[in-house]
Amino acid sequence: MVIRDEAPSDGASIRSLTDAAFLGAEHSSGTEGAIVDALREAGALAVSLVAGRDGTAVGHVAFSPVLIDGEDRHWFGLGPVSVSPGLQRGGIGTALIEEGLRRLRRRGAHGCVVLGDPAFYRRFGFTSDPALRYGDVPPEYFQSMVLSGIPEKGVVTYHEGFDAR
Ligand SMILES: CC(C)(COP(=O)(O)OP(=O)(O)OC[C@H]1O[C@@H](n2cnc3c(N)ncnc32)[C@H](O)[C@@H]1OP(=O)(O)O)[C@@H](O)C(=O)NCCC(=O)NCCS
Repeated sequence: MVIRDEAPSDGASIRSLTDAAFLGAEHSSGTEGAIVDALREAGALAVSLVAGRDGTAVGHVAFSPVLIDGEDRHWFGLGPVSVSPGLQRGGIGTALIEEGLRRLRRRGAHGCVVLGDPAFYRRFGFTSDPALRYGDVPPEYFQSMVLSGIPEKGVVTYHEGFDAR
């Protein structure tokens, strides 16, 4: 398996991979594929990595800029992240997220947030910080990690691509 930046020709396979991965997923909005497309169209896929196996995309992770209290403080949001249904729980998602976080660090990102299962994301170093909030989501489901600099306080807003339907 290789992990690489998405290529211009990957759009359609990332879309079908994302739609398939979230089809039976708990807490899915059913819009994750459209979100990735909207982020790409808006130039907001700050990091977009594909896991490829035998020339086929089997996993994908997106990171996009978020605002804190309406300001760009060089923080990013992880997600959506998808692994082909038949290949889940084989380490692909972990490898994509770890490489994505490395890329963010390398580009000097100050931090990263994630909305999702706390048990899964804790292993990467995400923790729940009640000072950094997202809507009315219970704090344990919204986690963050400082990558450089200081912990932030405030209300997080994702890119408008997350409103895509
Ligand atoms: C979530 C997802 C990206 C993880 O990728 P993956 O390649 O399946 O996961 P990995 O094999 O790297 O990690 C496996 C570990 O994560 C745990 N895990 C995997 N998916 C999980 C989930 N949805 N919730 C909680 N834990 C999960 C496994 O129990 C396993 O834990 P262990 O190492 O302690 O046994 C993938 O399962 C997926 O595409 N799921 C459907 C879409 C989705 O839910 N995306 C995330 C939305 S927050």
